[in-house]
Amino acid sequence: MTDATGDGGQVQGAAIEDYLAELRTFPPPEEFARSALVSDRTMYEQAEADPEEFWAAQARALTWFEPWDQVLDWQLPFARWFIGGRLNVAFNCLDRHVEAGIGDKVAFYFEGEPGDRRTITYAQLLDEVGRCANALRSLGIERGDRVAIYMPMIPELPVAMLACARIGAAHSVVFGGFSADALRDRIEDASARLLITADGGWRRGHAVELKANADHALSSGARSIENVLVVRRLGDAAGNLVMQEGRDHWWHELVSGQDPHSPAEAMDAEDLLFLLYTSGTTARPKGIMHTTGGYLTQVAFTHRTVFDLKPETDVYWCAADIGWVTGHSYIVYGPLANGATSVLYEGTPDFPGRDRWWSIIERYGVTTLYTAPTAIRTFMKWGTEYPAAHDLSSLRMLGSVGEPINPEAWIWYWQQIGGGRCPVVDTWWQTETGAIMISPLPGVTTLKPGSATFPLPGIGAEVVDDAGRKLERGGGYLTLTRPWPAMLRGIYGDPERYRQTYWSRFEGRYFAGDGAKVDDDGYLWLLGRVDDVMNVSGHRVSTTEVESALVDHPSVAEAAVVGANDATTGQVIIAFVTLKLGLEVGHEHAEVLRAHVVEKIGAIARPRVVIFTDDLPKTRSGKIMRRLLRDVAEGRDLGDTTTLADPAVVAELRRRAATGSGEE
Ligand code: WTA
Repeated sequence: MTDATGDGGQVQGAAIEDYLAELRTFPPPEEFARSALVSDRTMYEQAEADPEEFWAAQARALTWFEPWDQVLDWQLPFARWFIGGRLNVAFNCLDRHVEAGIGDKVAFYFEGEPGDRRTITYAQLLDEVGRCANALRSLGIERGDRVAIYMPMIPELPVAMLACARIGAAHSVVFGGFSADALRDRIEDASARLLITADGGWRRGHAVELKANADHALSSGARSIENVLVVRRLGDAAGNLVMQEGRDHWWHELVSGQDPHSPAEAMDAEDLLFLLYTSGTTARPKGIMHTTGGYLTQVAFTHRTVFDLKPETDVYWCAADIGWVTGHSYIVYGPLANGATSVLYEGTPDFPGRDRWWSIIERYGVTTLYTAPTAIRTFMKWGTEYPAAHDLSSLRMLGSVGEPINPEAWIWYWQQIGGGRCPVVDTWWQTETGAIMISPLPGVTTLKPGSATFPLPGIGAEVVDDAGRKLERGGGYLTLTRPWPAMLRGIYGDPERYRQTYWSRFEGRYFAGDGAKVDDDGYLWLLGRVDDVMNVSGHRVSTTEVESALVDHPSVAEAAVVGANDATTGQVIIAFVTLKLGLEVGHEHAEVLRAHVVEKIGAIARPRVVIFTDDLPKTRSGKIMRRLLRDVAEGRDLGDTTTLADPAVVAELRRRAATGSGEE
């Protein structure tokens, strides 16, 4: 929206103002809708009429050892779902499929970064999980214990998680890119008794020595660990590997010799399934608690409906890392509960070449790809020749998660990867929500590029203003209005922090920390974290909208904007911009981009400074770290940078910021 004042025509004092209007719409392709699992609004209506009965119906799709007596007990902010019900997550992911006769079906096509491949069927996975479960028991692990897992993206990682689930121990997976200190802190917070790790893994052609990191973690604390189980992945490529007598055990020695039969514990629906620590950028990490019955119900339901799963024919690939919640819910538990066939890939998208992903899609005939905007923008930067060199015609569905997807990145994904025929589902959720909450259903929803569209059936989500009043239109705070089955049950060991963090800002509502707006058609648009919202001359401008305006320019692959303090206007907008590779632009290009933002949004959003950069500082899960960019923009000392994927990026940015490139 453009107007001469740059006000975007909005009412002053809105929680977050709403400037960018995206008018393109994409109804479900006719053929897709015809064969879609969900092709009309009946499910939304049923869920709205009786949400508890709706979720109970979804839960019945699982196998329960004992039925529940009560669907929901809601003592705000503490929920219990499927009370009295008993089930086992590993049984639901494995045994029941084998019993149903699909044991020979492929569960995972694994591809290691060096090019090694393994095909693992449901029957094989069940046997390996049974052996691992017995190995854990032999090490004294019991129902109710916590097990830390620090592994590369190899099949033994889901095996270890499922083995824990089978015997009723909760896992705490620590992303393999985290440091020894991060691992130690997480082990200590959970008092884990066992650590499962590997000698290492492959990343961009280099051996990452996980066992050596684990040894550092254990020598500096983490006294609760009694045993360490070690997968041999690198073999001779692992440098100075030391196995400590009595504590460390090789997987191939301890697990391989076990009996594959291992009883699945009948767990209570509310027993802890896992802890996953959110890497807060400042505070102590929070151990997010997920339990058994509600979690599995919602991840299975969402995986099936959001991706329109056809388990007999689909080859599904979620390209996240299992160390994040996306991998827990949509590489391991959702797809396996649904008996899907998935791809599991160990490494980076650019090894050995920038077409690695597209060669994987071609080789396995991937039908469904689920990835993050950061990856899509990286591919945009590299150019279209890499996907164009491969046959991607097997794809029929695309998904996005992790950050707001800029409309131009959405269009690029839809066109260059999906060939203009695949619905793109933009899925909003969090570690805390456990499963997808806001997303299109591809056979029903008319898509708008950049919008996560509507809450899924059974989910209550509303945008509210500063006072917590529901907004029918415009920008504010995204809140959830009722409990959902996969919701976090708390922060491990700290119920008060749980209440404070999520339930104190707005009475009776879960506040997710994200800004969002509602458009005239009721579509939801995520506007980024509210901590990142900029205040320019009294207007609250969302970082996402200005970034999307920049990415809208054909030269731009990725952009991050921050507000830097300014005596006159409160904050001025500083833009960090990555151009598509191979473009020749002069220094006057900064002015071109500033003018483009003014045209798309209005003068209020004109960046004062544009800094060009080859890379942006990101967390290891790919989210742009705007806090660091603010520090750079304001010339401050950088705070904690431990969650940064590549610290060199910030050093280079500071140099560029100091030399004032692109200053108005
Ligand atoms: C952001 C990842 C916009 C959001 C599953 C959220 C998104 C945080 C989207 C959670 C999306 C995730 N559109 N923003 N589709 N998906 N986010 O815990 O800020 O790693 O609060 O979970 O990512 O990140 P987390």
